[in-house]
Amino acid sequence: MLSSNTIAIIKSTVPVLEVHGTAITKRFYERLFTGHPELLNIFNHANQKQGRQQTALANAVYAAAQNIDKLHAILPVVKQIAHKHRSLGVKAEHYPIVGQNLLAAIKDVLGDAATEDILQAWAEAYGVIADAFIGVEAEMYEQAEKQDGGWAGYRDFVLSKKVKESEVITSFYLVPQDGQAIAAFEPGQYIGLKMAIPGEEHTHLRQYSLSDAPGKPYYRISVKREDEIAELPPGKVSVYLHEQLKEGDILSVSAPAGEFTLDREDKRPIVLLSGGVGLTPMLSMLTAVVDTDPARQVTFVHAARNGNAHALKEQVEEIARNHAQVSLYWCYEKPTDEDRAANAFDKEGYVDLPWLRTVVPTTDAGFYFCGPVPFMKAINGSLQELGVAAADIHYEFFGPAGTL
Ligand SMILES: Cc1cc2nc3c(=O)[nH]c(=O)nc-3n(C[C@H](O)[C@H](O)[C@H](O)COP(=O)(O)OP(=O)(O)OC[C@H]3O[C@@H](n4cnc5c(N)ncnc54)[C@H](O)[C@@H]3O)c2cc1C
Ligand code: HEM
Repeated sequence: MLSSNTIAIIKSTVPVLEVHGTAITKRFYERLFTGHPELLNIFNHANQKQGRQQTALANAVYAAAQNIDKLHAILPVVKQIAHKHRSLGVKAEHYPIVGQNLLAAIKDVLGDAATEDILQAWAEAYGVIADAFIGVEAEMYEQAEKQDGGWAGYRDFVLSKKVKESEVITSFYLVPQDGQAIAAFEPGQYIGLKMAIPGEEHTHLRQYSLSDAPGKPYYRISVKREDEIAELPPGKVSVYLHEQLKEGDILSVSAPAGEFTLDREDKRPIVLLSGGVGLTPMLSMLTAVVDTDPARQVTFVHAARNGNAHALKEQVEEIARNHAQVSLYWCYEKPTDEDRAANAFDKEGYVDLPWLRTVVPTTDAGFYFCGPVPFMKAINGSLQELGVAAADIHYEFFGPAGTL
């Protein structure tokens, strides 16, 4: 237990640290990777360069510190992060390393303002926060391992099939190399991939949502190649998967994780909204719900650039043909002439509130969405305008979680 004095010091210094947030985290990562270059095998280098993860980790520590006397209040956030940590293979022994380097970074940046009392209080508070994470993650590792077909850490899978789904998205079917069972998953969950790319100094870890229904003898992921912006370096893992990975190759996979899952107890209608490759968890939810809950009404809204970029369209349309309770709506940002000739879409441009009003059957439903951040912001804003209850709004970031 922390003393009331320690808690008071923590609460009064959180705002100070937040002011210096960027400087402290920059220093923290410099120290961390200098002292522990092996951690470069775990952290995402592109997220580092864009500063996305820096802010995520630091803000989470400050949010936890602010709630230090009632950590249970932030348990949902801890769990979301812990799923990600478990999928990446973060271990209990990593926590003291992160703690020491964070403390040292605070000291470096605050200088004399970081008194012994303050540093001592933060060391204690970090210990309490770390223990909360370590406890939740230990349970998750155990659960991942002891479930049928489960495992902790990484397991070798063979790429059994590679299917091009659109000009930018390809599906990868993965079967376990040992020929044994694989863990079930909740629709909406993701797996972790650990890629050792020839010629690369470090391994690269990425998450990919499972895009097919649970209960198959394989896991399917559907990946967008990230190399459309000429000024930016091409995406390391996605481009490798698209260009180099061949059927028969081996991939290192961590067990399904994540909290963005379909609520199967709820029997109300669901509305699934996706932009681009954000389609993957929605498709898994769609395939699962029509199998297990045929009475549940489903509205499936997907936004793509145009028909050429529209992945997995046939699979979704076939589901709708066979299940009258499923309604589909396609929104194309820039339809091609062929899209127009074929009447292949319902809305041109972006998904917006006036159009959503015409396609959403009821606001008393479960709403799930995923896509590029601007898409997610627009959807979130529209759902709020429509009066959807906050508890009915669920979303996933395809990167470090942020705010909408
Ligand atoms: C829960 C979850 C589920 C996901 N599910 C899917 C899925 O189903 N399908 C899917 O395709 N993706 C999914 N993703 C995203 C996926 O994990 C990867 O982030 C994505 O494939 C890009 O990885 P990459 O290695 O190709 O690109 P990275 O090398 O990580 O680069 C990412 C982006 O950063 C840019 N970049 C690189 N270096 C710099 C720099 N120095 N400055 C500025 N920009 C830079 C690159 O151009 C690229 O656009 C998911 C992510 C999460 C968190
Ligand atoms: C109490 C301590 C910690 C807190 C509060 C914390 C918080 C976070 C947060 C908020 C994220 C982003 C989650 C998301 O993607 O949505 C994250 C990701 C991550 N964390 Fe932690 N973390 C802690 C400790 C650790 C430790 C000890 C390690 C291991 C060295 C670690 C490794 C990572 C990695 C590799 C990622 C993903 C990075 C990326 O995408 O670039 N974290 N953490």
